[in-house]
Amino acid sequence: MSLNLLQEQQEQEQEAEKPPSYHPRPVRPWRVAVIANVKGETPLPIDAPADAGAEFDRRETIQAIQDAIESDGHSTRFLSADESLMDTLREYRPDICFNIAEGIMGDGREAQVPALLEMLRIPYTASRVLANAVGLDKTMTKRIWRDHGIPTAPFQEFVTGSEPLDAELAFPLFVKPAREGTGMGMSEKSIVRNEAELRERVLWVVRSYHQPALVEAYLPGREFTIGVLGRADARQWTRNPRLYRADGFHRFPVLEVDNNNTVTPGVYGHLAKTLHPGDEGIPGFICPARVDAPLAEEMRSLAIRAHQAIGALDVSRVDVRLDAEGRPRLLEINTLPGLTPGFSDLCVLAGAESLSYTDLILEILYLGASRWGLLAQPNKLVRVPMSVNGQRVFARPLTFE
Ligand SMILES: Nc1ncnc2c1ncn2[C@@H]1O[C@H](COP(=O)(O)OP(=O)(O)O)[C@@H](O)[C@H]1O
Ligand SMILES: [Mg+2]
Repeated sequence: MSLNLLQEQQEQEQEAEKPPSYHPRPVRPWRVAVIANVKGETPLPIDAPADAGAEFDRRETIQAIQDAIESDGHSTRFLSADESLMDTLREYRPDICFNIAEGIMGDGREAQVPALLEMLRIPYTASRVLANAVGLDKTMTKRIWRDHGIPTAPFQEFVTGSEPLDAELAFPLFVKPAREGTGMGMSEKSIVRNEAELRERVLWVVRSYHQPALVEAYLPGREFTIGVLGRADARQWTRNPRLYRADGFHRFPVLEVDNNNTVTPGVYGHLAKTLHPGDEGIPGFICPARVDAPLAEEMRSLAIRAHQAIGALDVSRVDVRLDAEGRPRLLEINTLPGLTPGFSDLCVLAGAESLSYTDLILEILYLGASRWGLLAQPNKLVRVPMSVNGQRVFARPLTFE
């Protein structure tokens, strides 16, 4: 390559590292619906397991999201993700929905609200229908990751519970419901050491949760969670271009979950996930995790690949464990990561690097809005035709700053 070409290439690469200096703005304030299922308010099926609804949000979280969005000049309303949603959407007519709804039942419950919004052609934040449905299903997710060469523990799905165990799976194994979250159906009893324990636990999962059981190799190593925020073109649409690397993704610090000495020893199970800071038996949360920089970087790039492999958009959180050899193995992806201020993992990650809760929420909102044409870049702003002394002129770009 000639010296000139090399220099040109280097300049282009340096240029790509530089974030743009302009800040896109909404053309006008939006009406934003925050759509969620609320603990104790959303009705659940009568035969639901005891820990059903564990992923639902509290009113305080919804209010915190509304406050963050309103601080940017928009108006908001909470809409409950249940049978009333079609009517409340028609009445409120939001410009965009901030979706955190877990959904109520079925094999793709986290995709229920996105599917309804797609049908009504209403913009919304974060992942769309397919990625939310796949992300909820841990077996499907692992099949896609395996196809992409993304490291995940060997596994087998049990639909009836009487299937013979694959020869490649050796005890100890880990048994979990294929389509739940928040540690539902998981405790130290999920670790099974022989055939009898395996059968008992698999049948318990199938019967209690009315869904297949996912059985995977038990990963004995340390546990981490990795936040993903961004998209290839994120720097074009963000309020903070410096947040994102040239590939469009932000790198949060890595969070380690220390499961030694918890209420569910060795496992970040349901009981451990319902405890609050200061409670007895809560896991240790170490952020930034004390890991070598190359391992942290490897886990971050695996999380971004995992996010892209299932077609997730804008935000997610990926759980990782190390195997006996200390190699990272991906457990699952959360396309609707919890957003309880100061408590949910993603908020802890953001807090550890002084990214405020408001900024985190507005990043998710702006990334979502940009996909639906709701943000104007300065060079593409709407210009309002006006006339001066009969002469047609264009006024200043229409923004509401
Ligand atoms: N294969 C495994 N080996 C060891 N521990 C596991 C395995 N799978 C899950 N766990 C433990 O169970 C917890 C919850 O599992 P996860 O798949 O992340 O489900 P959830 O959606 O409920 O968070 C993990 O955080 C981890 O502590
Ligand atoms: Mg998890």
